[in-house]
Amino acid sequence: MEQSYRIFNSIDELSQFFAEKLASLVKEIPPGRFFSIALSGGSTPRLVFKYMASNFRDRIDWQKVLVFWGDERCVAPESDESNFRMAKESLLEHVPIPANNIFRIKGEADPNVEADRYAEAVRQHVPSTLNIPQFDFIMLGLGEDGHTASMFPGNLHLFSSDKLFEVTENPNTKQKRITATGKMINQARHVVFLVTGESKAEMVSCIIERKDDWQKLPASKIHPENGELLWLLDDRAAMKLNVFIR
Ligand code: 6PG
Repeated sequence: MEQSYRIFNSIDELSQFFAEKLASLVKEIPPGRFFSIALSGGSTPRLVFKYMASNFRDRIDWQKVLVFWGDERCVAPESDESNFRMAKESLLEHVPIPANNIFRIKGEADPNVEADRYAEAVRQHVPSTLNIPQFDFIMLGLGEDGHTASMFPGNLHLFSSDKLFEVTENPNTKQKRITATGKMINQARHVVFLVTGESKAEMVSCIIERKDDWQKLPASKIHPENGELLWLLDDRAAMKLNVFIR
């Protein structure tokens, strides 16, 4: 696994780097092949998506991109909690991506039924390696509690699950979630954490610098064995990192 960190002074600089990386990876895809990406949710990606909608509408061949989600809240797509709605409004309706290239997790459906349906949809559209769909690119965020996607602390069994997607629950709100499991995330070619804000600084330092009970945290279990793990941080999220990494 190749692991690296980049620290940026602003969300625009982080977004520019992220979008340029995505654009170059999509460009490398041979004709007739699709580029598969799993989006993350929450507030951080929204700003990145808006930047891409404004600056990369014509710099990415969206026809070649298949969009999935790494997790979704079990809510209707119209809900302001929906990761699909956030991505649709901040990015997808502003770029020329075919509707058939967008595979949302149906938050309004029965969670267990949908987790299995979605897993099958991923299997059908994302080529597998060793019988696990291998995404070209997976975006992840980091919660202040060390969760990522919707894999929360106390649920490390999700890294040994043979399922591609499982139903989880936000321990604070009891909101049901559908999340990609650890094995599928760790199968991806490029896994990119996007973490911003001072509120994440302690957790960023804990995981990257392996402090305290770091091994109990889901985000610390993300290590794409045969891929790249890249941390994109703003300077506030990185403020507690040791100098050697900066
Ligand atoms: C979600 C996300 C979740 C998110 C982190 C960070 O559905 O909420 O997938 O894992 O990435 O909670 O969220 P923020 O970027 O909003 O801090």
